Amino acid sequence: MALERTFSIIKPDATKRNLTGKVIAKFEEAGLRIVASKRIHMSREQAEGFYAVHSERPFFGELVDFMISEPVVVQVLEGENAVAKNREVMGATNPAEAAEGTIRKEFALSIGENSVHGSDAPETAAEEIKFFFSDAEIVG
Ligand code: PPS
Repeated sequence: MALERTFSIIKPDATKRNLTGKVIAKFEEAGLRIVASKRIHMSREQAEGFYAVHSERPFFGELVDFMISEPVVVQVLEGENAVAKNREVMGATNPAEAAEGTIRKEFALSIGENSVHGSDAPETAAEEIKFFFSDAEIVG
C-alpha cells in the first residue's frame, strides 16, 4: 500500500504535563513517521476555524477555550494506512472507552482533555494539514 499522511495535534493537557515525547513514541512505535512538527500557541481564530465543523455542538466554546489554554504540537504523520493507524493508536475519544495501550487510555484525562486529535479520513487529513502547514514544511 502507498504511504498516506494524517494530521495530529498533541493537545494542551499533554503538553502541559510534559508528555509530548511519550505521545510521539507511541506514534513511532506504531510505524508512523513524523514528517512535519511545530509547537504553537493557537489563536482563538485558528481554533474556531479548525473546529468550525463542531460550532453548533454544545461543547464548542469549552473545546476552543481548552485548545488555546496552553501550547500544542501540530504534526504530520506518514505511514501505510496512516489515518486509520493513528486513530487506532489514539484510542476512543472518551478515555473511559479507549483500549489498553492507546494514547488516550494511558494519558487522557477526560473526553475534552483527551491528549490528541487525529484526522478522521484522508480527505479531512489533507484539509487539516493545509490549515497548519505549507508544502515546504513537510519533509518526507
Ligand atoms: S469524533 O471522534 O470527532 O467523532 O468525536 P466527537 O465526540 O465528535 O468530538 C469532537 C471533538 O470534540 C471534543 N469533545 C469535547 N470537548 C469538550 N467537551 C466535551 N464534552 C467534548 N466532547 C467531545 C473531542 O475531544 C473531539 O476533539 P478532537 O480534537 O476532534 O479529537
